[in-house]
Amino acid sequence: MPTPKLLAFAGSFRRDSFNKRLVKIAADGARAAGAEVTFLDLADFPMPIYDGDLEARDGLPEHARRFREALKAHNGLLIASPEYNSSVSAALKNAIDWASRPDSKIPGEPGLVAFANKTAAIMSASPGALGGLRGLVHLRAILGNIQVLVLPDQAAINTAHEAFNPDGSLKDAKKTEQVHKLGAKLAHTVAKLHA
Ligand code: FNR
Repeated sequence: MPTPKLLAFAGSFRRDSFNKRLVKIAADGARAAGAEVTFLDLADFPMPIYDGDLEARDGLPEHARRFREALKAHNGLLIASPEYNSSVSAALKNAIDWASRPDSKIPGEPGLVAFANKTAAIMSASPGALGGLRGLVHLRAILGNIQVLVLPDQAAINTAHEAFNPDGSLKDAKKTEQVHKLGAKLAHTVAKLHA
């Protein structure tokens, strides 16, 4: 079976983001299950807010193109999304919006090539009681509509400000196991789908 190639990222620019910590734990689980995982920090991909006039004039901004190419190079996605006002963060939605557009420098390539036929596992962490669960409902719908198969399993870490150790690990062994299993499930699913 080919090695599953997964891209892991969080919808937060924040240096101490709980969601970055969470997705790295899922990535550990995926690696232990045989996947090759690349962690991508969206803060390294600063993009303007999507603007159709800007796109018509200049095509994809440099970092949107880089992000889109990174997605194209992987067949599975581990995504941790902060919940902002019951939905996904603007940073995550904006990155998805840009990456869903065709690249005028690659004529004939379908716009959704970065997402179509990819498989994703989604998760969230929040200081709130629901752990960002409501945002995941929206993220699942967004990804489904751009032809990403989203695993039914997900993880939401509540009271995130108390849930992590300073080294980024989760204090609770059961939660750690749950997140590792989510990463492993994505690795196994992608391995089978792309065999
Ligand atoms: C939040 N936060 C938040 N949390 C939540 O559980 N439900 C919510 O609806 C919101 N809404 C919200 C709106 C805005 C504008 C901000 C800035 C924050 C809190 C949020 O979960 C918290 O800031 C997390 O720490 C963000 O994730 P990272 O950056 O730690 O990954």
